[in-house]
Amino acid sequence: MKVTIPDLGDIKSDLLIFGGPYSNLAATESLLEQANSLEIKPSHIICTGDIVAYCAEPEQTSQLILNSGMSVVMGNCEESLASDSNDCGCGFEHNMLCSVLSEKWYSYAQQNISNNTREWMSTLPPAIEFTCGGKKFRVIHGGVDQVNQFIFASTEPTLKQQQFDKLNIDCIIGGHCGLPFGQQLGNKHWLNAGVIGLPANDGTQQGWYLLLHPTKNTVEISWHRLSYPVQKSYDSMLQAGLNEYAESLVSGLWPGTDILPLTEKSAQGLPLTIPAVIL
Ligand SMILES: [Fe+2]
Repeated sequence: MKVTIPDLGDIKSDLLIFGGPYSNLAATESLLEQANSLEIKPSHIICTGDIVAYCAEPEQTSQLILNSGMSVVMGNCEESLASDSNDCGCGFEHNMLCSVLSEKWYSYAQQNISNNTREWMSTLPPAIEFTCGGKKFRVIHGGVDQVNQFIFASTEPTLKQQQFDKLNIDCIIGGHCGLPFGQQLGNKHWLNAGVIGLPANDGTQQGWYLLLHPTKNTVEISWHRLSYPVQKSYDSMLQAGLNEYAESLVSGLWPGTDILPLTEKSAQGLPLTIPAVIL
């Protein structure tokens, strides 16, 4: 079956891209408030997927995003929930701590979202394209052909290059791995917008989002931290018994790091800084 990729056309004003709301309602509310204060309308906001995951408010977070009118790419969590799979589809191996922990939050999410929300998730596209500052962009979740492919900053450039070879695209913006980064590969760029629902394992409590600012022939791209009322999400997670990831919101560190390559693992607890890029 041929999949249709929505094209938002030529974007002439600021665009906000973020990922991984992860059932974190307070973080998602803060993201929308931030977009509003930047005068960015929902038509200029794109989510890279995984609306539902580790935190305690899957239905409310999904409804907030659905009703906002923003564009959303399907993540592996949406794919799994839409098909009523008994696994989050993150791609964890069975003996990983992340896999053991996912059984708990995924079954909580399964029990706490509505059929209407699952139905909406099933309609989400695997990618979204747009043009900005004369460059062609594709927003995806994990990899170009594989929704749950982990692509980190340290992932070999050849693997990223191979994905560009299949497309006529200048810049790919992904999510899924939970860590924001920007990388130039020849005349192409691979970016990760980061996530708002969990910290970036850097010992701080904030999430991350990406801003694109188009000028006539260029686009300025910058990463920003998102602060939000952490205590609110922490309390609701404790109430739901999701303790491990609740602690993570406070400490800024992930409870399991077995998905991380050595480079990203050794950066745990070091506050991230990401330089802006101009395309
Ligand atoms: Fe994901």
